[in-house]
Amino acid sequence: MKPKVLVTREIQERPLKLLQQHAEVIVNPHNRAMTPEEIIAEIPGKVGLLAMGGDPISARVLEPARELKIVANNAVGFNNLDLQALSRFKIAATNTPDVLTDTTADLTFALILGAARRIAEADRFVRDGKWVGWTPGLMMGSDVHGKTLGIVGLGRIGSAVARRAQGFNMRIVYTDIRRLDPAIEQQHQLGFMPLRDLLQISDFVTLHVPLTPQTTHLIGAEQLDLMKKTSFLINASRGPVVDEKALVEAIRSKSIAGAGLDVFEKEPKVSPELLQMGNVLLVPHIGSATFETREKMSLTAASNILAVLRGEIPPNILNPEIYETVPGR
Ligand code: DGY
Repeated sequence: MKPKVLVTREIQERPLKLLQQHAEVIVNPHNRAMTPEEIIAEIPGKVGLLAMGGDPISARVLEPARELKIVANNAVGFNNLDLQALSRFKIAATNTPDVLTDTTADLTFALILGAARRIAEADRFVRDGKWVGWTPGLMMGSDVHGKTLGIVGLGRIGSAVARRAQGFNMRIVYTDIRRLDPAIEQQHQLGFMPLRDLLQISDFVTLHVPLTPQTTHLIGAEQLDLMKKTSFLINASRGPVVDEKALVEAIRSKSIAGAGLDVFEKEPKVSPELLQMGNVLLVPHIGSATFETREKMSLTAASNILAVLRGEIPPNILNPEIYETVPGR
């Protein structure tokens, strides 16, 4: 009998087939996320769980999962996983780094360009039949090339955004909990500075930090107040990194020029005020949403599950401590 794997949302054919070669795969039949109760009802007897980044995998969900050996998150972010509970239950947790880096950086740059050049607003203007002819002052935006880009979190995705910005001849400054070697900073022309200074000088502030208790509301009223009146806030990381209420107020009071947002504090809910603001570009958490990348993400998640089924440590392990044996025991 093949081991059983639960997949909480339909995935592409290649990763599904890969899993099916070695496991009996049960896929959520609904065209929506599974509720925690539905996962709890399905989880007994499953050895693997392929979960989506929005599925809350809490201790309550894991309690009845007596045979579960791995939760493979179909996302690079893993704030939806209770890692402590997973480790306590000796269940491996994995994510999908690297394969989505460039795709998410592309989307970030689309948000930068789209917000600065009012692309969605201009599109709506044409569709609404409001365009009566070329006008010198029509849909004026801001330049992106030559401006200062402030990157908050220079990890994989932040660095990929920096590479794109170099092509736009931007000045790049960054802040991070770890500073690069000054020789590398110099080689890539990256200026390190504290968040406060970065906010004050950047024309575009783009966020690329994971969601943790330390980064929750990293950008609130005080930080938005430091930004230039002509600047834009870009967020393709996690919604709660920004205090959405404070952002609404900053845009309403024209304390910043606009925003490009892929993520929101209470997804899929969006603050109603943001929906009314023409200078805010809103997209529905699609940072990694390309055919190629979503397939690679699910292939990565499936490979992590298959490694565990073979008795190996999965390549993208997040809680390696579960494999550590205490000497003398
Ligand atoms: C990720 O990979 O973290 C994406 O945001 C999807 O959840």
